[in-house]
Amino acid sequence: MSEPKIYQNLIDGQWVAPANGRTTENRNPADTRDLIGSFPDSDEHDVRAAVDAAQRAYAGWRLLPAPKRGEILFKAAQLLVERKEQFARDMTREMGKVLKETRGDIQEAIDMMFFMAGEGRRLHGQTTPSELPNKFQMSVRQPLGVCGLITPWNFPMAIPSWKILPALIIGNTVVIKPAPDTPLSTYNFVQCLVDAGLPAGVVNIVAGGAGVGEPLIQHPDVKVISFTGSTRTGARVTELAGAGMKRLSLEMGGKNPMIVLADADLDLVVEGALWGAFGTSGQRCTATSRLIAHRAVAGELAERLAERAEQLVVGNGLDEKNDMGPQINQMQLDKIIDYVQVGRNEGARLVCGGSRLSAGDLGHGYFHQPTIFIDVRRGMRIAQEEIFGPVLSIIPIESLDEAIEVANDVPYGLSSAIYTRDVNAAFRAMRDLYTGIVYVNAPTIGAEIHLPFGGTKGTGNGHREGGTQVLDVFSEWKSLYIDYSGGLQRAQIDNAE
Ligand code: UN1
Repeated sequence: MSEPKIYQNLIDGQWVAPANGRTTENRNPADTRDLIGSFPDSDEHDVRAAVDAAQRAYAGWRLLPAPKRGEILFKAAQLLVERKEQFARDMTREMGKVLKETRGDIQEAIDMMFFMAGEGRRLHGQTTPSELPNKFQMSVRQPLGVCGLITPWNFPMAIPSWKILPALIIGNTVVIKPAPDTPLSTYNFVQCLVDAGLPAGVVNIVAGGAGVGEPLIQHPDVKVISFTGSTRTGARVTELAGAGMKRLSLEMGGKNPMIVLADADLDLVVEGALWGAFGTSGQRCTATSRLIAHRAVAGELAERLAERAEQLVVGNGLDEKNDMGPQINQMQLDKIIDYVQVGRNEGARLVCGGSRLSAGDLGHGYFHQPTIFIDVRRGMRIAQEEIFGPVLSIIPIESLDEAIEVANDVPYGLSSAIYTRDVNAAFRAMRDLYTGIVYVNAPTIGAEIHLPFGGTKGTGNGHREGGTQVLDVFSEWKSLYIDYSGGLQRAQIDNAE
């Protein structure tokens, strides 16, 4: 293991200590004796310096041709490919999820790099005929300026990449506040951009907590805020950004259902549900947290899932033999323990798990057993609230109609899934499930970066990440009219009958 390091903020291309000199420790959630490094606990002074740097850099960056901006991204992508294995290890060490998953997280950032780099030669607008002769018109995207990005700990590189790269390719500059639990992966990602030749000040990192987030959102020169995190924090972000009338993109919680009809391939369901519910220790906003199963198969599924969940090996994600890592911190672990108690009190029946794991070395980390409840009713708190941990609730239903109604009956709408061999049922579900993402015969996790990512209701505020749709968050449209008739031509008037 490498020596703990002291990390600083990145402002105007320089690594600088926070003005207040305060730092926080980044420790391994699988073994808190392992100190990764100390990171700034910055405040508004650092935010101001970073926003000023981003504002200055914007003047040059917005004028660099987009394909040239894309070339820097292509180079950075190459560096990320070369550094993937080391960065995966760093990420597992700071975040906990197993290596195969951190490799996937970095791959997602690589995919996004290539995708957005290529977008430098597209950034399509429209040309359309004019109603007047000798007149040309088109629409183009323009950047907005400095973007403030606030990112979570569960996808410590993929999610920063979803925000930084579209912002940059359009010509914006960025100040990012990484999650205090997992800052190193943002540093690793940004280092690739710096090494690829990104000009100073185009991306700035200010590490810290709410002492960074609030002044960043409130700074008058920050034009766009993109936030991924809890719905509770999102509400606060909305208040602050609303007061400043900022462009705001929110990506928040989920309570994602997997519907299983009686005709489903149960082997496939078992594999899908295990991966959807316990992958990333349940810490995905797309995690499968409700299994809405036809009464004819619910019992058998519960048994088979419990048997398999009990075989999952929980431990340090750096050890390739482990299937599931820890929760991110004590607070999250306590939250899961509370929800297990809530589920019991509500009358749901535990079929496996339900406890913290603390034997031997596990006692130095935040480990929890994969946990499954059966006999869950749709209104119970464990069926309504986001737990963000390895807890799956099985809700029995009688029909497709009931399944869809139960699936939609939560305050969130990120992703959903249906397992069936009936094409009619699948199409009805695709139409009627009110979520941003729907899977057929696949679990609720595993979105690819070139389709829109995001959700309805309490999950978001109408924007999407991923796809070319994310470009709408970081650009605004400008319509251009060019009259080459040599005379005054009046729209709606001169060509009217
Ligand atoms: C998240 O859960 O916060 O679709 C992001 C997925 C991943 C991204 C998840 N590609 O599960």
